[in-house]
Amino acid sequence: MTKYALVTGANKGIGLEVVRQLAEKEYHVFLGARNEELGEKAVQSLGLANVSFLHVDVTDSGSIKHAYQKVQEVSETLDILINNAGVFLDHHSTPSQTNEETLRREFDVNFFGAFQMIQTFLPLVKKAEGGKIVNVTTDMASQTMFDNGQTAPINALGYNASKTAMNALTLAFGKEFSDNGPEIFGVTPGFTTTDLNGNAPGGKTKAESAQIITQYALDNANYHGKILDKNGIIPW
Ligand SMILES: NC(=O)c1ccc[n+]([C@@H]2O[C@H](COP(=O)([O-])OP(=O)(O)OC[C@H]3O[C@@H](n4cnc5c(N)ncnc54)[C@H](OP(=O)(O)O)[C@@H]3O)[C@@H](O)[C@H]2O)c1
Repeated sequence: MTKYALVTGANKGIGLEVVRQLAEKEYHVFLGARNEELGEKAVQSLGLANVSFLHVDVTDSGSIKHAYQKVQEVSETLDILINNAGVFLDHHSTPSQTNEETLRREFDVNFFGAFQMIQTFLPLVKKAEGGKIVNVTTDMASQTMFDNGQTAPINALGYNASKTAMNALTLAFGKEFSDNGPEIFGVTPGFTTTDLNGNAPGGKTKAESAQIITQYALDNANYHGKILDKNGIIPW
């Protein structure tokens, strides 16, 4: 039986590589993108028959509902939902300089976007045997690690706090789902050279980071309600 996965924000960056890797593992993958032209181009660039474009802007509830209908037309189940879409808009500002509008835009994508995707697609993920939801987060969202200096010292309140809020989604939905499924967990790929950080040098490649996410998504071990980096569980 065909297995289905959906990756948001997958027209480029780490998300596009996650799509490629899941498709190579025989999943039918919905490549989510907010820009139709970029999404279609990304699908073509992969050249894989088991990847299809799905228009979804995670800040637009109408767009999310429409995407849900499109997926439902193809499948009654969704085995893996990967909330990968993300923005990082306050790279160079300190909290005292952070503009409120910027903060709201980051929460819109990184927190509310993931929240609405989970709520909307939950019926399909619940119907899949062993259904999983993976939230792509950052180690800078771990209050413990950031406070202890175990992450990059980037005091980006909007990005970090919106991902901390996303981690709270992982914990809260995790408590609700308990052992009945679906499994929900967060994964941080770690510093990766992508458009998100202006292609800052020295990071992992997109394929390396995607591998971390894909491995956890396909792993038979249960990571329910946890946040993980490449070495395992990290603190909240
Ligand atoms: N790069 C790193 O060092 C790093 C480290 C830890 C975690 N992460 C996380 O990894 C994920 C992927 O990041 P990346 O580095 O691959 O960044 P990226 O290359 O900038 O990709 C981000 C993707 O999110 C999409 N997106 C933004 N707003 C959206 C919206 N409203 N609806 C749907 N899609 C939207 C973008 O679409 P457009 O092309 O239309 O803008 C793009 O496809 C993010 O969640 C990020 O926070 C990255």
